[in-house]
Amino acid sequence: MASTNKVPLQARNLPWVEKYRPQKLDDLISHKDILTTIQKFISEEKLPHLLFYGPPGTGKTSTILACAKQLYKDKEFNSMVLELNASDDRGIDVVRGPVLSFASTRTIFKRGFKLVILDEADAMTQDAQNALRRVIEKFTENTRFCLICNYLSKIIPALQSRCTRFRFGPLSPDQMIPRLDYVVQQESIDINPGGMKAIVTLSSGDMRRSLNILQSTSMAYGKVTEDTVYTCTGHPLRSDIANILDWCLNKDFTTAYKQILQLKTLKGLALNDILTEVHLLVHRGTFCFFFLRGKRSYLAVICNY
Ligand SMILES: Nc1ncnc2c1ncn2[C@@H]1O[C@H](COP(=O)(O)OP(=O)(O)OP(=O)(O)O)[C@@H](O)[C@H]1O
Ligand SMILES: [Mg+2]
Repeated sequence: MASTNKVPLQARNLPWVEKYRPQKLDDLISHKDILTTIQKFISEEKLPHLLFYGPPGTGKTSTILACAKQLYKDKEFNSMVLELNASDDRGIDVVRGPVLSFASTRTIFKRGFKLVILDEADAMTQDAQNALRRVIEKFTENTRFCLICNYLSKIIPALQSRCTRFRFGPLSPDQMIPRLDYVVQQESIDINPGGMKAIVTLSSGDMRRSLNILQSTSMAYGKVTEDTVYTCTGHPLRSDIANILDWCLNKDFTTAYKQILQLKTLKGLALNDILTEVHLLVHRGTFCFFFLRGKRSYLAVICNY
């Protein structure tokens, strides 16, 4: 469980996303069904080729790195694991070169298979993916492949069918909050419930984003509250959005336009963010209609916002 995840001394200067990257499969806080299945594959030494897909910051890279750490000792890690990510070249030459030579050579010192991790595999060219089909099949006895991507549709069907697929969905607030609480406790952060709620709302299931927001807000403002979180991320405050909606509904066009423009300039808000937030607010709200002195005017009553 997360609370047992001790932070090594040398991790002190790292950004929190790396400092608190799960080191063991048990440290991961979500997708328990996937983790149990993978644990079983490993303990029975029947690991298939894997394909992890899903939105960013949901633990795909962390999961395979934790698996690799469980499979291999530190000193054999470099000889048994080849990790390629978007920073490496992703053309056909890489498949014909480093991947092929790594997969085709056997190690004398260790029995079992090697592991090739192709992170951000959706950035691989079609040619490279086609070339990989044969390599995967030919060296299955010696090597297992793990492909990781955000968009499954960018992986050619032939590769998809050679791998066991696992979808890493966005994390739920119930999963994120205990992990954030743990980091808060470790880093002695001053945070209130509103701040925590704002972080969870803004990160929409992306654990990496939530840790980044927590770190930047606590460094920039000291105290993590709803307002500091929204200000730090450059997001419009909820009160500003409520005001904007109120002006749109209750003021005449020219006044509402002027006031919104003024607020936008004063707080440096992006029009895109305003529209997104107003849209969300309208969806979440319940409206009451009032008729005052013969003149129709609306009052928005907001629920769950
Ligand atoms: N399930 C999880 N449990 C605990 N921490 C997590 C989890 N998922 C993500 N994190 C945190 O977020 C960081 C990023 O996670 P990771 O690199 O595994 O995401 P990813 O799914 O590979 O994202 P991307 O698709 O952008 O590569 C980790 O270092 C860790 O701190
Ligand atoms: Mg990743």
